[in-house]
Amino acid sequence: MPVIAVVGAQWGDEGKGKIVDVLAQKAHVVVRSSGGNNAGHTVINEYGEFAAHIIPVGIFNPETLCIVGGGTVLHPRSGVKELEELTARGISLKRLLISSKAHLILPWHIFQDEAEEKRRSKNGAKIGTTLRGIGPAYSDKAARINLRAQDLLGNRDALREKFFALYELKRKLLPRGRMPDAETLWQEFLRDTEILAPFVCDIELFVWEALEKKQTILLEGAQGTLLDVDDGTYPYVTSTGCTAAALAKGAGIPPQTITRVVGVVKAYCTRVGEGPFPTEMDFSFADEMREKGKEYGATTGRPRRIGWLDVPLLRYAHGLNGFTELVLTKLDVFSGLPRVMLCTEHVVDGRIEDMLMPTQFPKLSQAPNLMSNLRLWDQDLAECVAFKDFPCGAREFVEYLEKLIRVPIRFVSTGPQRHQMVMRGE
Ligand code: IMP
Repeated sequence: MPVIAVVGAQWGDEGKGKIVDVLAQKAHVVVRSSGGNNAGHTVINEYGEFAAHIIPVGIFNPETLCIVGGGTVLHPRSGVKELEELTARGISLKRLLISSKAHLILPWHIFQDEAEEKRRSKNGAKIGTTLRGIGPAYSDKAARINLRAQDLLGNRDALREKFFALYELKRKLLPRGRMPDAETLWQEFLRDTEILAPFVCDIELFVWEALEKKQTILLEGAQGTLLDVDDGTYPYVTSTGCTAAALAKGAGIPPQTITRVVGVVKAYCTRVGEGPFPTEMDFSFADEMREKGKEYGATTGRPRRIGWLDVPLLRYAHGLNGFTELVLTKLDVFSGLPRVMLCTEHVVDGRIEDMLMPTQFPKLSQAPNLMSNLRLWDQDLAECVAFKDFPCGAREFVEYLEKLIRVPIRFVSTGPQRHQMVMRGE
């Protein structure tokens, strides 16, 4: 039975939520390994439309064990809100677990994120974070001073003491008057964490048992490879790992047990926030694509920047993740467009490159080479039930991309609904 890692191959927002929702139908265990409520996995299924931020998308399958993994950061207030929304829709939380190693996003992390973004903006170095306190929480984790879910299981007085000590430390670092008083924050923290504490445990025991029983385990990626703190377009990245290796670690899974690495690729690129984006489109066409593709952040509502699919960067992402297969999403957005393009090469220091590496980002000296003679189509792909029903242009796009990356494109998503997915091959 497989261990399947679902990984974003670009800058996040590739449509992983829908893919995980589909694959979770047959999974025994789904683990959300990394990141926090900066993610927003949009799912549309029989329960309606839902933006999952930290709870694994597998929660919609009542048979699936859902785990918030050890590489995540959990904001108690927003975690509880998500649980309440799920319960209100009749979704059971009986099979939800939270890793004792998950770190907590504490109130000051949000204020810190905001203050740091303000400071960076003044220096022209804004990252464009989601302002959810992600970076500061991971910084405190690395500095070994943060609270984690495990602390919720210990003595209440000891927890209070740690909370107040951290508050004092942070109060001195933050601009005056930004934070409410410690007692107010503590009371809210206590209310929320009392709800979360019963879910906290050593999740590894459950994951290892599933491995031993040869059950299907799904590792639900968040963000995307190019936002990975090490491998992405640093410093315009998030603060955690986003690749298959990071997912294994966050789930407590030995890396060699992963049998499939599913790369989720959108038919074009988007990114929110600042940072290099070599294939970014001109404004007017980007506006048209944004409206057609509904490219607004699921977490922050920010308009996403839009560019053409970047094959040289996908090759880099493949090198890091070792994709065994790809899922192509949002190809339906191209139906009826007056032009469709694809970036096949970049020009670096006057040389043509078919793979783009991090040291080359600052050296991109001219516009990328874009394939502009791709065949267009008008037909709505949502009408197609099989790949052979696709219009010629759409089929050619998929086959051409597959040849360029040399990884099979196993599924093509043709709309937001669970059933709008065409499988290729076995
Ligand atoms: P942070 O994760 O809030 O610190 O934001 C750092 C960068 O990652 C910013 O450019 C965000 O827009 C981006 N980012 C974080 N989470 C997501 C996501 O789920 N989708 C797309 N971009 C994200």
